[in-house]
Amino acid sequence: MAKLFEPLQLGKLNLKNRIVMAPMCMYAVHKEDGVLTPFHEAHYASRAIGGASLIILEASAVSPEGRITDQDLGIYSDQQTDKLKTLVRVLHELGSKAGIQLAHAGRKAEDAEDLVAPSALAYSAQYHTPNALTAEGIEKIIQDFKNSAARAQEAGFDVIQVHAAHGYLINQFISPLTNQRTDEYGPQTLENRFRLLKEVLLAVKSVFQGSVWVRFSASDYDENSTTLEEFDQMNQWLETLSVDAVDVSTGGLLPKRPDSIYPGYQTQYAKRFKERSNLFISTVGKLGDPSLANYILEDGQADLISLGRPLLRNPNWPAFAAKALHDKNYVPYNHSYGRGFNE
Ligand SMILES: Cc1cc2nc3c(=O)[nH]c(=O)nc-3n(C[C@H](O)[C@H](O)[C@H](O)COP(=O)(O)O)c2cc1C
Repeated sequence: MAKLFEPLQLGKLNLKNRIVMAPMCMYAVHKEDGVLTPFHEAHYASRAIGGASLIILEASAVSPEGRITDQDLGIYSDQQTDKLKTLVRVLHELGSKAGIQLAHAGRKAEDAEDLVAPSALAYSAQYHTPNALTAEGIEKIIQDFKNSAARAQEAGFDVIQVHAAHGYLINQFISPLTNQRTDEYGPQTLENRFRLLKEVLLAVKSVFQGSVWVRFSASDYDENSTTLEEFDQMNQWLETLSVDAVDVSTGGLLPKRPDSIYPGYQTQYAKRFKERSNLFISTVGKLGDPSLANYILEDGQADLISLGRPLLRNPNWPAFAAKALHDKNYVPYNHSYGRGFNE
């Protein structure tokens, strides 16, 4: 059996293979109420039928003001939670585990009137300048994450992924480029910069019994931002906090891109994290070539392959990968789908 299709026991979580659907905002909530629509239900269910072991729902805001846009999903109202509960049941019925990415956009909220961030520094000239969060404001955000985690528990999710990547609020606290505070959350020490994430994780874990993951941007593509040695230290702290896994992405803090984006371009960071921590590590970024994805696992560079765009292109990517890797043991959710790949 190709490594891609080997099961993985990740703490309490049993995954049937190594293929994870990465969180991807669909910006499809047209009523601006943060509630799942029939589109979302079909979209996620299709990837479960397609065979991904874990479906991580898109960045879902912990409060209305924490949304990137008014079309984002939220997990702060009863109506949202009811619909999420139904979707989780469907994903389970279709053989996948269900995760949700909890997020607050901070200074990258595009539609909010009043933006908040660690410091009053705009993302770019096209964005509003945020207000620096007060101590009460920080406390409310931690409470929002806790309330959303309790809703995720009620909805039956197996995984919460805390969004600490891509330049959203938690990433803004971690980087010294976006955090100029003078209190205990300020950039004077790494411990201070990590404090919001730590408090969010403690709050989430106090109400959520499933698996807790973190998504990091391991590089902000600026030599003055968080260093890899600092990520090594934060990964150790995550272990102490009993975080189960880290999904390793990059970028988004600044309007900067890496010089070159090529298949597996972010896996170097996952490999480093895997070598230097005991966390389960997921890698992401242009991994749609099944041989490359399988090689990364065989070579021990990561435990899981997260796929974004490959699963947008092809919800049945796992069956496509099984065919490409000549894995005869792969069984599609519905046997008739086999005819699409074997005849
Ligand atoms: C349409 C779209 C929406 C995305 N939304 C999110 C998101 O909600 N949260 C997140 O952490 N990353 C988001 N991403 C990034 C993906 O999760 C993934 O890291 C990125 O696309 C690279 O992986 P890929 O090459 O497999 O697509 C998004 C990407 C796409 C293409």
